[in-house]
Amino acid sequence: METVVSGIRSTGKLHLGNYYGALKNFVKMQDEYNCFFFIADLHSLTTHPTPHGLKETVRNVVVEYLAAGLDPEKSTIYVQSDVPEVAELYLYMNMNAYLGELERSTAFKDKVRASPNNVNAGLLTYPVLMACDILIHHGTKVPVGKDQEQHLEMTRTFGNRFNRLYEVDYFKESFAFTYSDKLIKIPGLSGQGKMGKSNGDADCIYLSDTEEAVRKKIMRAVTDAGPTQENQEKPEAVQNLFDLMNVVSTPDTVQHFDNLYNKAEIRYGDFKKQLAEDMIIATSDVRARINEINQDDAYIAKVLKLGAEKAQASAQKTMKEVREIIGLKKLY
Ligand code: TYM
Repeated sequence: METVVSGIRSTGKLHLGNYYGALKNFVKMQDEYNCFFFIADLHSLTTHPTPHGLKETVRNVVVEYLAAGLDPEKSTIYVQSDVPEVAELYLYMNMNAYLGELERSTAFKDKVRASPNNVNAGLLTYPVLMACDILIHHGTKVPVGKDQEQHLEMTRTFGNRFNRLYEVDYFKESFAFTYSDKLIKIPGLSGQGKMGKSNGDADCIYLSDTEEAVRKKIMRAVTDAGPTQENQEKPEAVQNLFDLMNVVSTPDTVQHFDNLYNKAEIRYGDFKKQLAEDMIIATSDVRARINEINQDDAYIAKVLKLGAEKAQASAQKTMKEVREIIGLKKLY
């Protein structure tokens, strides 16, 4: 059976980008594959270096994983820092990751542009740690959104380089995975680009938002003054809302509003109301379960303890083999 590995950083509440890009696929995959899903708390240290609030955000992600339907009987659910072997592998793999290729990562370049005064080495080697998360369990399928495609390419580069260097056929190639025909990019509400916390709360619909909050955010989403003639091209902000509707509404509903837009008869108020209601319905089960699971500390602890044990066993086996391959043998 193929092995699946993926994670989400613990930087706060999960939004619809995390859900449709990653988590919804996690839930489906656990019935078909050997799955490892973790909370990437070490990766969050690259941008949130102080531990303030870290425990709370890790807990948030676990609760939302479980609320979305991850099942600890089917998947290994764990916190990245509970498996220190990942950090050891990261050390070894860093020796064969080159400055030039790390600097070419678009995610790194974006981070440098956004905060030029906090370019730490962890940020630069983010893709190496991500590769280690996957390689340590010999993952081959990685459910992620479109923005992670380049990181998967780098994972293959690092794994293949290790194999060549030590003349082994040890690490397998892994690929970004989605059930749809192409990797997902969920747009935000601020008119441009993908949904992301770094664009502010108004850009994101969180899984834990109340129904009222969803309605308010959608009603305030950026649009324009409306089409002035028939078959006008949609500006990015409006196209983004149509893209969101494509994800949460039926094809008939999308078609209905698309026809109105093309006839220059669309009323954005009606369009947004429909979008908000469909979004609320699409996420209502998860929202209800977040509140339920949030009360259950004992269950959360049990899930993470079991997950840590299973993930450690898998990682320890790999690291024993990796040390052998590298030639780190004991002299006593
Ligand atoms: P993070 O926390 O930034 O994102 C978690 C997942 O959510 C997806 N995602 C989106 N998908 C579609 N549209 C969006 N607007 C959107 N925003 C976020 C991301 O593609 C991702 O799948 N580097 C990873 C965390 C990680 C990881 C790994 C993933 C660390 N190690 C190993 C897979 C395997 C990340 O992007 O986290």
